Amino acid sequence: MGHQIIIDDKNSGDFFYREAIKTLRANIQFAGRRRRVILITSVFSGEGKSDTTFHLAAEMAGAGKKVLMIDADIRNSMLVNRFGIEQSMAGLSEYLSGQVETEEEIIYSTNYDNLDIIIAGAYAPNPAEMLSDTPFEDLLKKEAEKYDYIFIDSPPLGQVIDAAMIAQFCNGAIMVIESGAVSYRAAQKVKEQLERTGCTILGVVLNRVERAGGTRYGGKYGGKYGKYGKYGKYGKYGEEKMKESAAETAGKEGQAG
Ligand SMILES: Nc1ncnc2c1ncn2[C@@H]1O[C@H](COP(=O)(O)OP(=O)(O)O)[C@@H](O)[C@H]1O
Ligand SMILES: [Mg+2]
Repeated sequence: MGHQIIIDDKNSGDFFYREAIKTLRANIQFAGRRRRVILITSVFSGEGKSDTTFHLAAEMAGAGKKVLMIDADIRNSMLVNRFGIEQSMAGLSEYLSGQVETEEEIIYSTNYDNLDIIIAGAYAPNPAEMLSDTPFEDLLKKEAEKYDYIFIDSPPLGQVIDAAMIAQFCNGAIMVIESGAVSYRAAQKVKEQLERTGCTILGVVLNRVERAGGTRYGGKYGGKYGKYGKYGKYGKYGEEKMKESAAETAGKEGQAG
């Protein structure tokens, strides 16, 4: 109890980025009372899901709402990667596998007022299974009563099925799309997958748009991420099906429509 994680946000973005996050926050607030458990996903990795999730959560918390951010990307945790949070801290995977008994043990307060987080936890071989099981559903139901908003970061739906599992228990989803990096067809496919779970798509964030005279913030991002490569640092895909569909969209990349 009373444990805290210090988040050091080194990349909060420029004025335009911060304004865009504010607009997104306002739009979510207008989406209504029932849209409070929200999934953030994308087609590929590196499109900006984790960035968007964190900045949106922090912005909403800054607006006085009680927010829980869940890092459900068990395959490739952003909190561990970006904020250097120790892998040894218990997180979602320990809770869902029953190694940790109560949710209090995995909910951490942060140095941001009103913002609590659940980190992904140690790598598990079966995240999709864990995330589709009742303990996760129950956890979300319970926390939805305590928090105004829950934002859930997830793996890319164009590569692994996890986000669709999570979507079943959410009442809204946001798709982050990296400008110019995703074909219409691949995005459409992920959109349909989300809709099939019954989760409403609240909006699409077009990330990394090149502004005239402006630069993309950060600028550290170089090279190509392993779009169609292995997902997660342990390189386990889990679902053959997803692998096939990712390969298929890879073949179409660059073609019109
Ligand atoms: N709009 C942006 N401009 C510049 N860099 C960005 C932008 N959005 C995200 N990034 C950076 O790109 C990298 C990948 O983003 P991340 O949020 O981790 O992607 P994902 O979670 O979808 O894999 C991170 O280093 C992040 O800081
Ligand atoms: Mg991420």
